[in-house]
This record gives sequence, structure tokens and C-alpha cells, in this order.
Amino acid sequence: MKLAMVQDKIVPLEKLNSAYLDRGTFFGDGVYEVVRSYNGRIFALNEHLQRLSNGLKAIDITGVNIEEVRDRVIKAFETAAIENAGIYFHITRGSALREHNCDNSIRPNFFLTITPLADQKIIKQNGIKVATHPDWRWKRCDIKSLNLLPNVLAKQAAAKKGCDEAILVKDDGAITEGASSAFFAVIDGKLRTTPQSTDILPSITRKYVLKAARNIGLQVLHESVTPAEAAGADELFIAVTTKDIVAVVKLDDTEIGDGGYGVYTKKIQEQFRLFTS
Ligand code: PDD
Repeated sequence: MKLAMVQDKIVPLEKLNSAYLDRGTFFGDGVYEVVRSYNGRIFALNEHLQRLSNGLKAIDITGVNIEEVRDRVIKAFETAAIENAGIYFHITRGSALREHNCDNSIRPNFFLTITPLADQKIIKQNGIKVATHPDWRWKRCDIKSLNLLPNVLAKQAAAKKGCDEAILVKDDGAITEGASSAFFAVIDGKLRTTPQSTDILPSITRKYVLKAARNIGLQVLHESVTPAEAAGADELFIAVTTKDIVAVVKLDDTEIGDGGYGVYTKKIQEQFRLFTS
């Protein structure tokens, strides 16, 4: 008898809910997006859908109509009726018995959740502490894949040290990005950030930060920083859809700047607010 066991229940294989056989679970074989709304309006949905489409193409998942995905996201958002929502969705290659290879007969699976975003008053006021961690990820970090074990381990290690984010450091000593955020440093009046490559995610918030920097006349250097350079920076901040821009006030044991929001971080935040209102 072919069977599965779910917790303590034996289920004949032919009766098993196919969600248990999702290749996303077995292999992380899929891509995801996190989008948010500000006051009842979804922000930058086009950009997120474009990134999803690029990711699907990069890992050769076919048969997904992006306009259908857009319709589903909007329908779910309207049904949930949450003003400031975090919208998570993923597409996996599909469900099948666990074999690394699979044929083209399986259909992609879609999954979405919408929840209210956590209150961010405190981190917006006080900033966050971060801890450096080795970047153990693969060589295509530009793909927003479901494989997040290195990110999870780095974040758990940071949380154990009382930090809200892990800042990932490559073997060559350069910071790439946060475990779930883009990373920026203000050094000598210039904004430094890791150049876009396969080492980092093409963050949507990062793109808007660069636009904000242009708007306020802040020069941008697309050059990564080392932890030592970051520790000596005037300002550090992270950028991510769910929190937009948050100051980093402590990196490992070093307090950054005067331990609060720096001038440029505040200005970028103000500019960013204009994009979202
Ligand atoms: N993470 N870098 C990484 C590794 C990320 O996981 C994220 C986002 C970002 C920021 O990307 P964006 O600005 O497009 O949100 C950068 C999401 C939110 C997550 O995994 O929950």
C-alpha cells in the first residue's frame, strides 16, 4: 500500500491532499513575493510582478499568466480589506511525488496570505540593532527563491544576540545585504550600497531608495562595504518592503553615528514617504 503519514495519521497516497507534495516543500522549488499596501493601496505591484516573472523565467517554471496573478492578488486584497497589509504569495513548480526531476505535466501551485503589518512605531523611532553573519547563500541570490535556510539561520543567530536583522558577509569580506533586507551605509556624505549582481536580490525598496537619494542630491557609490567600514559609517540603514527604511543604530558591538536616525536616513525616509502617499 502506498501511503503517507501526516503527523500521526496514516493516509493512503491517493487520498493525500496534493499540497503535501508541493515541490516548494521538498526542494524550495519556487519563487515568492512580499508586497504591501499603504492606506488601502498596494505599493509597487508592477515591479513585484515583474520580479516574480523574471524569477519564474530564471528557474524555468512555465505556464503562469502574470495578469492572472495580478488579478488574484487584487481580489484577495479587496476581500481582506486590510489598510496596511503584508501580502505574501508564492508560485511553485507544482505537486508530485518526491523526485528531483519532474516532467512538464505538473501545474504550478499558487499560494497567498494577507495579514496586517506589525506596528512599526518603535523601530521607526529607535532604529534596529543588527549582527553580522557569514553569507552562506547560493550563487543566484538575485532570484527570490523559496530556499531561505541560510537567511533563516542568519536571522535566528541575530535574534539570539538581541538583533532584528543579520547582515550577510561574503567570504571575501564584503557585506552583500541583510538576510531579508537591502543594506546601505552613509560614509563621508555619500551613500554606499552593494552593486546589483547575482549576490543580492533586486530589492524594490532599494530601487526607491536610490531614487530618493537622487532627489535629495545624495551621491550614490555602488560599492559594497566591509563590516569594519560599516562600523565606522556615519549612518547605516536597511530597506525592505514590510518596513521601508529603518536606521541601524548598532552593528555587532559598535554604536553607529549618535545611536539614532541620521540626517540622510531621515531625508531618504521622508522622500520615500512621498512615493507611497
Ligand atoms: N525580503 N534582500 C533580501 C535577501 C530579501 O529577502 C528582501 C526582502 C530584500 C528587500 O527586498 P524588497 O525591497 O523588494 O522587499 C532584500 C522579504 C520581504 C521577505 O523575505 O520577507
